[in-house]
Amino acid sequence: MKNGVQALIGAQWGDEGKGRVVDVLAREVDVVVRYQGGANAGHTVIVEGKKHVFHLLPSGMLYPNRVCVIGNGVVLDPEQLIAEIKGLDPSPEDIGTKLVVSGSAHIVMPYHKKLDALSESSRKGSSNARAIGTTGRGIGPCYVDKYNRIGIRAEDIVDERQLADKLRINIEEKNLILDKLYGEQPLDFDELYEKALSWGRFIKPYLGDSSLEIDSALRAGKKVLFEGAQGTLLDVDHGTYPFVTSSSCVSGGCCTGGTLGPGRFDRVIGVTKAYCTRVGEGPFPTEDKGDIGERLRQSGAEFGATTGRPRRCGWLDMVGLNYAVRVNGLGVIALTKLDVLSGLDELKVCTSYEIDGEGTDRFPSSAAVLDRVKPVYETFKSWKDDISKCRSFGDLPSEARDYVKFIEDKTGVRVGLIGVGPGREDTIFVDF
Ligand code: GDP
Ligand code: IMO
Ligand code: MG
Repeated sequence: MKNGVQALIGAQWGDEGKGRVVDVLAREVDVVVRYQGGANAGHTVIVEGKKHVFHLLPSGMLYPNRVCVIGNGVVLDPEQLIAEIKGLDPSPEDIGTKLVVSGSAHIVMPYHKKLDALSESSRKGSSNARAIGTTGRGIGPCYVDKYNRIGIRAEDIVDERQLADKLRINIEEKNLILDKLYGEQPLDFDELYEKALSWGRFIKPYLGDSSLEIDSALRAGKKVLFEGAQGTLLDVDHGTYPFVTSSSCVSGGCCTGGTLGPGRFDRVIGVTKAYCTRVGEGPFPTEDKGDIGERLRQSGAEFGATTGRPRRCGWLDMVGLNYAVRVNGLGVIALTKLDVLSGLDELKVCTSYEIDGEGTDRFPSSAAVLDRVKPVYETFKSWKDDISKCRSFGDLPSEARDYVKFIEDKTGVRVGLIGVGPGREDTIFVDF
């Protein structure tokens, strides 16, 4: 079936508008799957003027009769999940939408959040390491436990015996770290055990086998959309390491974190803003710390959906975008926030880098090298008109069309969807 299985990923440093694009596409899709990351994500969806921010729930939850899956690759903060489910209005039950949580998803425990904060503050005070500027949601420490094979999974919090055994091992280890490394108070087993069991009682009806769920949907001819969190340049392998998150945000992450083999995917959608933003620390070649950055931040309302932090802003970076095209195998681009560029005097796009006096269009793997990059820009004519009411490509002013065509020419990838505002209806479908 044409585009029966699609992966949607962020092509920059996150916050590209993935949630709003998933929401638009979910109209035609039966199953939406989150496959990595955790409550560090903040995916905004605006429907009829009402704002919804999803941290853990897939952004398809607002549609009736869908299946939404939280895959094994996600790190699950039960308190956040429970709050999000309770906050849904109407409730998923009322609209016939089913949530399935993989039993293999790892649980973010309160000590993960504590260790996240402690390790960030120790990096801040260190002369050898720079802080990452994490969201403080316990993401890194939880993935550390997963790969260290001592993590607690969703299936464990509904099993008293398993939970007790695993929690004891963890508490012993964490108390040593808390005491010896940070001089902090020890954790209390009983308190955490009771808390985790109460989460388990809430989550039990949602637990399931994500692989079976997705497979049976596909066998029934249904359409599945994988919803990435964060973005390519925050990927633990392919991003600006160490200023990254701790999961596989690229399209390949869908296979392991969402339980579907690569042969079953039809295409990968890359979401990119018409400019760039980044929250937290790390290299950002096109960052503008002056008037343009401030103008983009204000017009684009660039403040973190999870932490409220002001996002760093700058011009579109084609070197980074072409890198995302390559490592994700992008088949189509969803270009968001084109409206934010309206009214600027001129537009710039970074088309190559100068590194130590040499020109290159290659995205360097080293954050230290990326820190030294001088962006080389091409300048474009801007457009003055408000484009937020445009609903077809032809409605856009010629300068905006040229900007989009330039992105297509430089990437070799079609721009299939354009965002001209944050609402569901503020979307131009070109040829999706
Ligand atoms: P995500 O994490 O990739 O889902 O993106 P976020 O929700 O964190 O940030 C994207 C922000 O841009 C949200 O506030 C969206 O409502 C908003 N947004 C998304 N697409 C558009 C667009 O085309 N135009 C405008 N003006 N805002 C948009
Ligand atoms: P969505 O899905 C933007 C950033 C943090 C920090 C780094 C590591 O909304 O696009 P972490 O808490 O993951 O250990 O932090 O990654 N970060 C994000 N930036 N959007 C996100 O998610 C992000 N999730 C994490 O700011 O720099
Ligand atoms: Mg976000």
